[in-house]
Amino acid sequence: MPKVYLNGEYLPADEAKISVLDRGFIFGDGVYEVIPVYGGRLFRGPHHLQRLNNGLKAIRIDSPLSDAQWLTILEELVRRNGGGDQSLYLQVTRGIAPRDHRFPEPITPTIFAMSNPLAEVDLSKQQGISAVTLEDNRWLRCNIKSISLLPNILLKQQAYDAEGGEALLVRDGFVTEGAASNIIIVKNGTLITPPQSSHLLPGITRDLVIELCRTHNVPHELRPITKEELAEADEVWVTSSTKEIVPVINIDDRAVADGRIGDEWRKMTRLYRAYKQAFREGNVE
Ligand code: PDD
Repeated sequence: MPKVYLNGEYLPADEAKISVLDRGFIFGDGVYEVIPVYGGRLFRGPHHLQRLNNGLKAIRIDSPLSDAQWLTILEELVRRNGGGDQSLYLQVTRGIAPRDHRFPEPITPTIFAMSNPLAEVDLSKQQGISAVTLEDNRWLRCNIKSISLLPNILLKQQAYDAEGGEALLVRDGFVTEGAASNIIIVKNGTLITPPQSSHLLPGITRDLVIELCRTHNVPHELRPITKEELAEADEVWVTSSTKEIVPVINIDDRAVADGRIGDEWRKMTRLYRAYKQAFREGNVE
């Protein structure tokens, strides 16, 4: 039985219990992170903790722990689950209180973390995914990694129902992101991804791709993408911490370009893998 962390204790998942009055359960009142772990270490750990702190601030919860304390807890959880490669899930809620929309005062945030297995994606088996475009009907604070994911879940399920692997979300004619990923398109050798805004999550994987573009002089632009540009892109990718960079080869039953995985994806994936390898070897932070 995998070990989880709950409010100061490490215990088997089936022994961890949360109050029915927890505001995470009642209201979805909290934020979360999903952090990949390679060789027992948190990949882009400081970036994830920064986003966690930003999210807590945005929902007006004082961060209950320092970055050093978060790291200690999470690294210990990784160790207790056998080290190696894992996917960490961390959730912080506004804690237990009688049901009332108003914030309780004072609060004791509930802190929960668990680990899931993380298998290395076999690039030679990457076939690309299909996607569907859907109206982005989520709220206007999508930069917060809120645990209230009902809109995302409904959109993602709509994609699955249409035999797609991801829903690409369109707001006012512009593509914002996927239901559980960021979007990057390639046109004439230039990578294009929407700039940070309250319409999308500041994805850690997306940020690393941008960083790799800067380091390796890959042409890139941070600007809004229209639905028409999506339809005419040479390549379309979605990114997330657990799935890394995934090529989309079909959108709304139409092939993306020639319907095959593109060369820019191969190049960027090589750079991403090399960065990961350098991280495993302790050569990057
Ligand atoms: N989701 N946008 C949304 C809406 C997401 O849910 C995610 C990731 C991303 C990509 O962010 P990152 O690169 O930091 O993983 C963008 C996670 C993996 C999840 O909910 O499981």
